Amino acid sequence: MAKIEIKLADIPEGKSVTFKWRGKPLFIRHRTPSEIQTERGVATSELRDPQTDDQRVIKPEWLVVIGVCTHLGCVPIANAGDWGGYYCPCHGSHYDASGRIRKGPAPLNLEVPTHEFPDEGTLVVG
Ligand code: FES
Repeated sequence: MAKIEIKLADIPEGKSVTFKWRGKPLFIRHRTPSEIQTERGVATSELRDPQTDDQRVIKPEWLVVIGVCTHLGCVPIANAGDWGGYYCPCHGSHYDASGRIRKGPAPLNLEVPTHEFPDEGTLVVG
């Protein structure tokens, strides 16, 4: 299956950029220090689909998720919603900056695809 290579220098801190990968939107988010701190501090007992931030990211600065809402498959909007991560306008699901579901009908966190950082400035997904 096809891999996608992304040059990280093109994505400024605080931005979430959408790529297309295997026919789906792929969100790459360059998280701010404050987002990282917030997401690391979330207790899994607060979560519908309990996962620590560490279980979802390889490098804390970079969140890599499939941009498909786990409710009925709409594409969420970045930097929106009550947790400032992603917001799905179809039926109002709110995700945090780790892509975890926090409110609304979606049952699961946004999917984290297999990815790696072969060097400092490069991300490979797939
Ligand atoms: Fe996203 Fe329903 S498809 S909330």
